Amino acid sequence: MSDLLIHGGTVVLPDGERVADVAVEGGKIHAISAPGQTFSPGAFSRAVDAAGLVVLPGAIDAHVHFRVPGGEHKEDWDTGSMAALAGGVTTVLDMPNTDPPTTTLAALEDKRARIAPRARVNWGLYMGATKDNLAEVKQARNIAGLKIYMGSSTGGLLVYEDGPLASIFGGYSGRICVHAEDEQIIRDNSLKFSGATDVTVHGRIRTVTSAKRATERAIALARRFARPVHICHMSTAEELELVRAARHDGITCEVTPHHLVLNEDGLADLGTLGKMNPPLRGKHDNEALWGGLADGVIDFVATDHAPHTLKEKMGGYWEAPSGVPGVQHMLPLLLNGVHYGRLTLTQVAQVTATGPAERFGIQNKGRIAPGHDADLVLAAMGDARLVRVKDVVSKCGWTPYEGMDLYGWPEVTVLGGQVVYERGRFPKVTRGREVMFG
Ligand code: DOR
Ligand code: ZN
Repeated sequence: MSDLLIHGGTVVLPDGERVADVAVEGGKIHAISAPGQTFSPGAFSRAVDAAGLVVLPGAIDAHVHFRVPGGEHKEDWDTGSMAALAGGVTTVLDMPNTDPPTTTLAALEDKRARIAPRARVNWGLYMGATKDNLAEVKQARNIAGLKIYMGSSTGGLLVYEDGPLASIFGGYSGRICVHAEDEQIIRDNSLKFSGATDVTVHGRIRTVTSAKRATERAIALARRFARPVHICHMSTAEELELVRAARHDGITCEVTPHHLVLNEDGLADLGTLGKMNPPLRGKHDNEALWGGLADGVIDFVATDHAPHTLKEKMGGYWEAPSGVPGVQHMLPLLLNGVHYGRLTLTQVAQVTATGPAERFGIQNKGRIAPGHDADLVLAAMGDARLVRVKDVVSKCGWTPYEGMDLYGWPEVTVLGGQVVYERGRFPKVTRGREVMFG
């Protein structure tokens, strides 16, 4: 008897969408029924009725901050991974700006030891660049990549001077991911606007030019050393054009849900809840970024899930830390984009699963195909549902998307062949595994 049958859903397969049955065995996708055929439920220990639902590969969020160690009052791996599962996210890659930061082999192994017994999703880790830790980073096994903060953000990680940047790009042949904001521009503008108190100053400090200049610099370094560099959380139409022109040099990029659906017009309502790095931009940037997703210039969506407590966020502009949660709402926001004709379901599977799996060489994930891991999400596309704070699973307890009416919600999430989330409940606790990078 096989383990699990997902019966009668509209399955988003690598070659298109069709109604099919998905058979799961030993945690893997075992078979997909041929067009017009079905599998007999009697042959499975469990069958999930997916009629009327879409079946997508579990989402891979390549950019989260789950705050362990050092920020457990904002998030931990129980709350972070439950928020992920409620959002149809089955794999997350965690950033290194924890406390202490993941900049040494000891810190990397310590983080692994803390996460392994707690994670309810599959996971992978980045290391962070400092001016002098390259030798250690080179010895690390199986990391998502090396994250370089070219502009300062939450935590103390920062490398922005020419010499150290050239040493890192020249010396590291693995995946390099950059936070591209220009530190000098940020510092100059912080002085210039030091008397400001309103959050709308954030985009005048961390300007479009600061994002553009750092992205140009990262691309120039990538070309100089022939490195396939990845630009994190691209926020502007200008950066999109830089990446479009540099894709043949192996440059890739991601966009966050907040830079797709929020903009500075919303800051009057959001206040400091809308403060993040890079900042919210204009409506025309939202439009350009949706376009970049649809035409394939943007490789994937990643949330930059960066929880802070409401108390922390409610300080004044200068006191409030930057960052918003997102892992629970990425898929609903993108499926809502399908409802409104911005993307197809196949494109959503590409930018939430196949794209990140390919970019990071994550083995056996990112598509619904025999032999791949049975990480799946079943979503309802029919009725709009409100984003409500009381449904937020993240420890931070708030969301910048509150009050949005979205079409397209995860109903059931399957991790390694087990139903781990079902309509607001978490029926089974299973441990996620550390993913293997190619
Ligand atoms: O807004 C942000 N928050 N941007 C970052 O780069 C870091 C993140 C955090 O960790 O809070
Ligand atoms: Zn981040």
